Amino acid sequence: MSEIYEKLKTCLDSVREKTGFQPEVALILGSGLGDYADGIWIEQIIDYADIAGFPTSTVPGHKGRFVFGYVDRVPVVIMQGRVHYYEGYPMSDVVLPTRLMGMLGAKKLILTNAAGGVNYAYHPGDFMLIKDHITTAVPSPLIGPNIEELGVRFPDMSEVYSARMREVIRKTADDMGIGLQEGVYVQFTGPAYETPAEIRMCRSWGGDAVGMSTACEAVAARHMGMEVCGISCITNLAAGMTSGQLDHTEVQETADRVSRQFKELITGIITRI
Ligand code: HPA
Repeated sequence: MSEIYEKLKTCLDSVREKTGFQPEVALILGSGLGDYADGIWIEQIIDYADIAGFPTSTVPGHKGRFVFGYVDRVPVVIMQGRVHYYEGYPMSDVVLPTRLMGMLGAKKLILTNAAGGVNYAYHPGDFMLIKDHITTAVPSPLIGPNIEELGVRFPDMSEVYSARMREVIRKTADDMGIGLQEGVYVQFTGPAYETPAEIRMCRSWGGDAVGMSTACEAVAARHMGMEVCGISCITNLAAGMTSGQLDHTEVQETADRVSRQFKELITGIITRI
């Protein structure tokens, strides 16, 4: 058994000592959605710190815990506070919580994040349904001995973001009167925001939004056969697209401004996927 899988099993056993909850849907919360879990029917909360072997987050304002509960009648596990590569963890730790939620039984994964808009048609406050991603700028979470218990050595990535789920999400947003862009997410390591030249590169690659998370989690989830979808909240136009400088306060302010609508959309999606 690989070292990484052993660690996952330790975490799984540790969670299973505390709860027998069987989630159907896993949800990872990005900026602006941090308090989403406060509005659901909560069955159990497990702090990351109480899970043996679990990597804990260092970003201020990010709570580190799993919330188990129900959205409408759908059993969900919510990751409140994700682990970022820029915090210094190996990629295998960054995707450990995603894999753990899969091992707990979640077959579907909803990823959310805050992202910079690279596409000039985007505006701060827009939502973007992720149709594909580019991870070229970050190491793959699958590097190292393959975890045979989870998936194959060379997994197919031709439809990371489920076409079925995207169709449902488009319909849900439409029914709710919420506008939705659809585009390609490019993951960089951060923590520095990108340079204008990097953003021009993203655009020439076919990227529409840029951020510091998500795509690696999507790869790990697809490797183990989960069905994946993702939504970005475009919090700002990326570097070099406006005269101003980028700062985390602007990102947080936009995310907070549209958070109510984002939460409504996520609830709609969970009940329909
Ligand atoms: N770049 C990278 N990550 C981000 C951005 C950005 O412009 N905005 C929010 N997250």
